[in-house]
Amino acid sequence: MRVVIGADHGGFELKEKIVDFLKSKNIHVHDYGTHNTESCDYNEPAKAVAKAVAEGEADRGILLCGTGVGMSIQANKIKGVRAANVNDAYTAKATRLHNDSNVLTLGGRILGDELAKTLVDVWLHTEFSGEKRHQRRVNKFEE
Ligand code: RB5
Repeated sequence: MRVVIGADHGGFELKEKIVDFLKSKNIHVHDYGTHNTESCDYNEPAKAVAKAVAEGEADRGILLCGTGVGMSIQANKIKGVRAANVNDAYTAKATRLHNDSNVLTLGGRILGDELAKTLVDVWLHTEFSGEKRHQRRVNKFEE
């Protein structure tokens, strides 16, 4: 699985931990930055990750800012992207099963490290259910 990741200053520290976590699981990850805690806008990393997913260069994207919210709003502006801001394991699973989300957004100022790793693990390893009603609803995102 090809994963791309990005963060602003609010998500930088957690991003570093998620990158290490993914590497420890032998999951290839391309890091679009940011690479330090200096203040920056979340829009650019969000667009870079969202476009990589929308254009098929990556299978999934992960974005981190302070809350995950700015990242999700920006990523969802890119056609074909279904970004979900997730804080709990039930939603991490449900948004794959039901929404076929292809970008996960997380809050570096909200989540503990171990919870964030669990959310990433659950989200990456849950497949879309493919059930007809869910597929119909996902299709309507693009109408
Ligand atoms: C930056 O201070 C903060 O606004 C940003 O990381 C994010 O939480 C926005 O949604």
